[in-house]
Parts: sequence; structure tokens; C-alpha cells
Amino acid sequence: MQTIFDTIKKVAIKIDHAIKTEDLGYADSENSSGEDQLKLDVKSDYIIEEAFKDISIVKSLVSEEKEGVLELHDEGKYTICYDPLDGSSLADVNLSVGSIFGIYEGELKAENLVASAYVVYGPRIELVLATKETKPQHYRAQNGLFNFISEITLNEKGKLNAPGGTQQNWADYHKTFVDDLFAQGYRLRYSGGMVPDLHQILLKGGGIFSYPGTSDVPNGKLRQLFEVVPFAFLYEQAGGQAVNDTGMRLMELIPSHPHDTSPCFFGSNYEIENMKQAYGIKA
Ligand code: AHG
Ligand code: MN
Ligand code: MN
Repeated sequence: MQTIFDTIKKVAIKIDHAIKTEDLGYADSENSSGEDQLKLDVKSDYIIEEAFKDISIVKSLVSEEKEGVLELHDEGKYTICYDPLDGSSLADVNLSVGSIFGIYEGELKAENLVASAYVVYGPRIELVLATKETKPQHYRAQNGLFNFISEITLNEKGKLNAPGGTQQNWADYHKTFVDDLFAQGYRLRYSGGMVPDLHQILLKGGGIFSYPGTSDVPNGKLRQLFEVVPFAFLYEQAGGQAVNDTGMRLMELIPSHPHDTSPCFFGSNYEIENMKQAYGIKA
């Protein structure tokens, strides 16, 4: 596993360099979710594939930017599911973006995730990773090396509210839930990049990030294997909760396709309990 984490550190430095120096325009292609790919999406995907292809413990790769599963080593133990550049459409307005990695052993379902990590490319490069035995570990890069800063623990209750999805298409009970948090004094924090948005909530002690199902996208937008589940794991390891719109733990998701999505709620305990109440979910 250390080899995988060391490789993530190496690719993070390379992707950061690409973001800072390369063309921010569109490639002439679409990904499996029907989104136009940016040249930076394609480049980041290439950097990650190149870095993992010679690592024999890696059995296969699943990427937001690839249709199917890329088989690497038959004898390998782990499948790495990744979003090479999350929030990539924010690069041209100079907001923070990220990379997300879920490391699975065996069949591709949430309960088989054994570790996860994400990188934030902002004013600094930061990395957060966790295994089943650890709380999320927060690192910051300096001169190309990642220095450990601290372990991350969520408070029981936070102050931040990051509500995703097109508001026009929210269900009434979802709107009531979001409005109720603001009426309790919560502050809006939503950049449109789940990595910096979820990172902010983790580091500022708590709050909630939601991306619900909406009338136009009933299963939400965020993809299970490489966006939802890696963060669900990190939030649970930090002492918070991560559930779908029925109150099921996101760590129980079983996708039927690598690019399946799920409504998702990540937060500290107080806010998730509020959400369950607003959604009429029995304890
Ligand atoms: P990606 O750039 O990898 O396609 O992901 C963007 C995601 C996520 O980072 C963010 O939270 C969400 O899309 C934002 O969606 P809205 O613009 O619908 O809020
Ligand atoms: Mn993404
Ligand atoms: Mn992406």
C-alpha cells in the first residue's frame, strides 16, 4: 500500500505542474458520463496510468476518463478507481481542483475499499489519505515533498453548508432541509469542486456537503467508485457519516457499472441526523 501512496504523491506533483503550465482548453472528446473532456483531464489521466502501469500489486485501473476497466497485472491485488482531475472546469477561473483515488481489493463495491486518498491543487498542494486502521492523515507539499501535518477528526457539529445540484430541480423536502440549516446560522461554502469543498469541511471541523438526486438527475451527478465512496470512507474514518437519500451508508453501495452515480450526503453527525429527519428516514 505504501507504494501506491508514494505513487499518488509523485503524480500529484506532476499533475500540479500540468495545471500550472498547460493549455486549459477542451480536447475533442467526451468521457463515459457524456461530459466534454478538457486537455487537462486527458493529461492527468495519462500521468496516473503511466505511473501505475509498472506497479505489480495494481491489478487494474478504473478512471472517470476511461470507459471500462483497464487490466494491468493479473497477479495484482488492488484496483485503483480514480478521478484524475475533479472540478477541472474550474481551472480556467483559477479555483482549486483535485484528484480522488479509491483503492479496492476484490470486487468493485464500497465494502471492498481498503484505502482512499485525495489531492487538492490550490494555493498549495495538499494530500489526505486514510486506511482502515487510520484516521485521515493531512499532508502539505513543500519543495516536492509531502510533510505530515495532522490527523483529521470531525466535530459532532459544524458550521458549513455546501449544497450541490441545480436548486430549481431540488425536491421540496431537500430545500426545506437546506433552508433550515441556514436558519440555524450555517454559512454557505460551495465552490463547485467537491475536493476543495469536502476538504474545507473536514479541516474546519464539520458541516455538510450534499449532492442529492434531482428531478433532472434522479441518481445525482457524483460517481460512486471514484468520487462518492472514497470520500464516504474518509468522512467515516474522521468520525462523521456519509449516507444516500434513504439513509443507507454510502459504504454499502454496490455499483452495477463503473460510472454509476449516487445521491450523497457527507457530514458531521449532527447535520446528517438533521438530513435524515428532513428526509423522513426513521432512525
Ligand atoms: P468533474 O470535474 O470530475 O466532472 O466533477 C465535478 C463535480 C464535483 O467536483 C462537484 O462537486 C460537482 O461536479 C459540481 O456540480 P454542479 O456544478 O452541478 O454543482
Ligand atoms: Mn469529479
Ligand atoms: Mn474529473
